[in-house]
Amino acid sequence: MIKFFTTTRIMSKVKYFELNDSFIDELVCFQNEFSKDLNENISNHFTLKKSQIFTLIACSRKSIIGFLIAQRIIDSFEINSFFISPSFRGMGVGEKLLGNFIKNSCEKKITSIYLEVMKSNKIAIKLYSKFKFLIYGSRKDYYEINGLKYDAILMKLILN
Ligand SMILES: CC(C)(COP(=O)(O)OP(=O)(O)OC[C@H]1O[C@@H](n2cnc3c(N)ncnc32)[C@H](O)[C@@H]1OP(=O)(O)O)[C@@H](O)C(=O)NCCC(=O)NCCS
Repeated sequence: MIKFFTTTRIMSKVKYFELNDSFIDELVCFQNEFSKDLNENISNHFTLKKSQIFTLIACSRKSIIGFLIAQRIIDSFEINSFFISPSFRGMGVGEKLLGNFIKNSCEKKITSIYLEVMKSNKIAIKLYSKFKFLIYGSRKDYYEINGLKYDAILMKLILN
C-alpha cells in the first residue's frame, strides 16, 4: 500500500516534454551517469540536423529521469534510444513516454515507427507489444558488447 501511494505521488509529478536546447547538457550528463547501461553515446544523435531528430524527456522535480530519441526519415521515425533511470523503472514512466511519443508522431503525420531491440530484452519487447508494435524481422549478432554478440529483433508500428 505504501509503495502504491509513493508511486502515485511520483507519477503525478513526472512531466513529459520535447527537449529544448537548455536541457541538452543535462541530458548528456544523465546519459554519462548510465553510460555502462546504455552502450552508446547519445551525443552522436545531436550531430544530426535538428529537423531530423526528435527527443522527448521525462522530468521529475526538474531532473531528467528518462528520454526517448528518434530520428525522422521522411514520414517515419526510427527510435534510436529509449531509457528510464533504473530507480524510476516499473512505475509507468516508460509507458507514458512511449505513449507521448506515439501521440506526437501522429500529430506530425508520421506513418510508421521502427526500432531494434535486443532479443533478450523481454521487458522492452513487452512494452512495445503493448502499443501494438509488431515483429517484422531479426538481425543475428547485431549488437556487440564486451566482445559478446547478441541478436536484434526488428519491430514496427504502422500509424493511421
Ligand atoms: C524498457 C524500459 C524503457 C521500460 O520503462 P519502465 O518505465 O520501467 O516501464 P513501465 O513501468 O512504464 O512499464 C510499462 C510496461 O513495460 C513492461 N514492463 C516494465 N517492467 C517490466 C518488468 N520488470 N517485467 C516485465 N515487463 C515489464 C510491461 O509491459 C509494463 O506494462 P504492465 O505494467 O501493464 O505490464 C526500461 O526498463 C529501461 O529503460 N530499460 C533499459 C533500456 C532499454 O531496454 N531500452 C529499450 C531499448 S530498445
